Amino acid sequence: GIVVSSLLKETGLVTVDPGFMNTASCDSEITYIDGDAGILRYRGYPIEQLAEKSSFLEVAYLLIHGELPTQAEGDAFMERVNRHTLVHEDFRTFMGTFPRNGHPMAVMSSAVNALSTFYPESLDPFDPQTVELATVLILAKTRTITSYLHRSAVGEPLLYPDYSRGYVEDFLRMTFAVPYQQYEPDPTTVAVLDQLLILHADHEQNCSTSTVRMVGSSHANLYASVAAGINALSGPLHGGANEAVLKMLTEIKADGGDASAFMTRVKNKDQGVRLMGFGHRVYKNYDPRAAIVKKSAHAVLEKLGKPDPLLDIAMNLEEIALNDDYFTERKLYPNVDFYTGLIYKALGFSDQMFTPLFALGRMPGWIAQWREMMTDPTTKIGRPRQIYTGAVERNYLPVESR
Ligand code: ACO
Repeated sequence: GIVVSSLLKETGLVTVDPGFMNTASCDSEITYIDGDAGILRYRGYPIEQLAEKSSFLEVAYLLIHGELPTQAEGDAFMERVNRHTLVHEDFRTFMGTFPRNGHPMAVMSSAVNALSTFYPESLDPFDPQTVELATVLILAKTRTITSYLHRSAVGEPLLYPDYSRGYVEDFLRMTFAVPYQQYEPDPTTVAVLDQLLILHADHEQNCSTSTVRMVGSSHANLYASVAAGINALSGPLHGGANEAVLKMLTEIKADGGDASAFMTRVKNKDQGVRLMGFGHRVYKNYDPRAAIVKKSAHAVLEKLGKPDPLLDIAMNLEEIALNDDYFTERKLYPNVDFYTGLIYKALGFSDQMFTPLFALGRMPGWIAQWREMMTDPTTKIGRPRQIYTGAVERNYLPVESR
């Protein structure tokens, strides 16, 4: 790599790599993926172990600080995050000013960006204490913002946090509690959501994370950088796929539930239709996160006593795909988004909330990647080159001569 890049520098040649299929943008110690073997590790720990044994805030600490916290470190981190979950009253008013049917991803990125105006003391990207403050503020307030996205959409009052509860538990209370009524989140729901957030917490240099790094490479602050990440995540080829999967399953059901007829359309590329929640740039094997989510989807629907015919359609689609040359030759397997929506739906979230939940989970990864980049002395502003294919030089014509 070093030889090639110095050769390119000396000769003035550029490489063209649309979609960055073969271009590494950085060195990173955070997340390891082996796409052929279907392996994912955060800081060396297998995702399966973290999903089973850890908690979301502990994983956030691991990604950001590089090591699992001791009891005292973990408690202190949790306490700090919890203490900052309250937002300024003016911010609550701001959250209530968006149209109710506006997409929550647009509200979320605007809200996270706007947070920087409330905390000007946390904007210096090179002061470690300031960066730590911004880290804690964003993790804490994004949770509050995400619960407000749901409540604003359904026209219910925005609730205040309860510091005595855990991160996920109080998120569920703030999202679903009826004012003045006791609300005790179901422990299964808390555990499942915690696990889903862990599974989404980082995924090395995907589209949104690369966006966060690109924006930060101009020395933009952490809020501006992660707000850009939320926008990148919103697209249906990336995080927006979880919402798109549910829409697809619902449409198949409305058309009579014939999974094989839909798959014929996918294989014929009929109007560009794709099997949403399938395929991945890096995984050419079963996405290890999808394997965990699939198991949870069955367990949750059973535990909550909410069988969903859409799960049967999803399983039919997967079964067909795993036995069909179109998918096996292209190595298209379920990705993390294929089964998550079914769980979120069973937990009571509307489909527009699925991608904000992904963003909430991905926040520690974006922060860890941004921090790694800011403290790496080899970082330079991100600035790809191009091959110009436009008009050669020509002279300006006055409007009457055009
Ligand atoms: N359904 C049908 N065909 C597909 C699918 C799919 N989901 N994904 C890829 N293909 C086909 C393509 O048509 C192409 O076929 P061709 O060789 O005949 O032209 C081939 O497989 C390669 O696909 P590319 O689009 O070149 O692969 P790329 O790595 O650029 O795209 C992506 C990866 C965007 C994830 C793609 O698989 C896709 O669109 N999937 C559906 C959307 C989705 O689930 N996104 C979430 C990804 S995970 C995440 O971001 C959290």
